[in-house]
Amino acid sequence: ILTTLVKGICKPVTCKIRILPSVEDTVNLVKRIEKTGIAAIAVHGRKSLVLSLFCLLERKKEERPQHPVHCDVIKAISEAVSIPVIANGGSHDFIKEYMDIETFQKATAASSVMIARAAMWNPSIFRKEGLFPLKEVMQDYIKYAVRYDNHYTNTKYCLCQMLREQLETTQGKKLHAAQSAQEICEAFEMADFYEETTAIFEAKKTSSETETQDEDDQMEDPDVIKMAVRFDKREYPPQITPKMYLLEWCRKEKHPQPVYETVSQ
Ligand SMILES: Cc1cc2nc3c(=O)[nH]c(=O)nc-3n(C[C@H](O)[C@H](O)[C@H](O)COP(=O)(O)O)c2cc1C
Repeated sequence: ILTTLVKGICKPVTCKIRILPSVEDTVNLVKRIEKTGIAAIAVHGRKSLVLSLFCLLERKKEERPQHPVHCDVIKAISEAVSIPVIANGGSHDFIKEYMDIETFQKATAASSVMIARAAMWNPSIFRKEGLFPLKEVMQDYIKYAVRYDNHYTNTKYCLCQMLREQLETTQGKKLHAAQSAQEICEAFEMADFYEETTAIFEAKKTSSETETQDEDDQMEDPDVIKMAVRFDKREYPPQITPKMYLLEWCRKEKHPQPVYETVSQ
């Protein structure tokens, strides 16, 4: 798969693995992967689920995120291959603030570090000067989420990741019960922000609808039908895409089937 990908596309191909039960097997695997021509390899320093011939007897469980990360194995890989190694799995054990990223990189002799959970818990982990207080981070995050109309379930998930141990507090319980962006804002005492921002959105929407109407009125080409089609995933039933709606509409209105042209950039 990797060889085909590397040959078939002009972008650099990278690969991510978990480690095997033995250091030797892991290093050998990475050497094989390196030969496919990939540009870099990310290594999550926890063991993957291994099924052997004696499957039932020898089934080794995948290590969970709470298991310690095996920096020594990532280090052995870094020293054995010449492609860049991206160390992963350091959240919690190692990475609690910006300075720890370098500690993890040094402990694994990797070229760079990939961070997942620590960045979800507090995205200011990437701030050189240190972490911002979580309260501030969450408020800023909510502002982005509301301004960019992020789906509330996703906003709620991300905030739950940030609150973590505080999920049992009154605020945590309010967040848990929230069923809309507005209720999330209320849980964080940001109801006014929600009101103001949605009022601005409504005003913009009304003015852009009027503008589109004006433009349509001025349009001369009778063969061009202009329609405002907003693709908001949650407004479409599963498996139904805007293309399918357009096809249906064309059939109903007895227009020819739409034709698409793929342009490469
Ligand atoms: C919400 C979430 C989604 C993830 N999705 C993927 C994924 O799609 N593919 C993958 O290889 N790893 C995925 N992971 C695992 C992470 O990439 C990473 O290997 C793991 O969390 C260990 O790194 P950390 O200690 O920095 O969290 C995901 C992790 C989290 C928390």
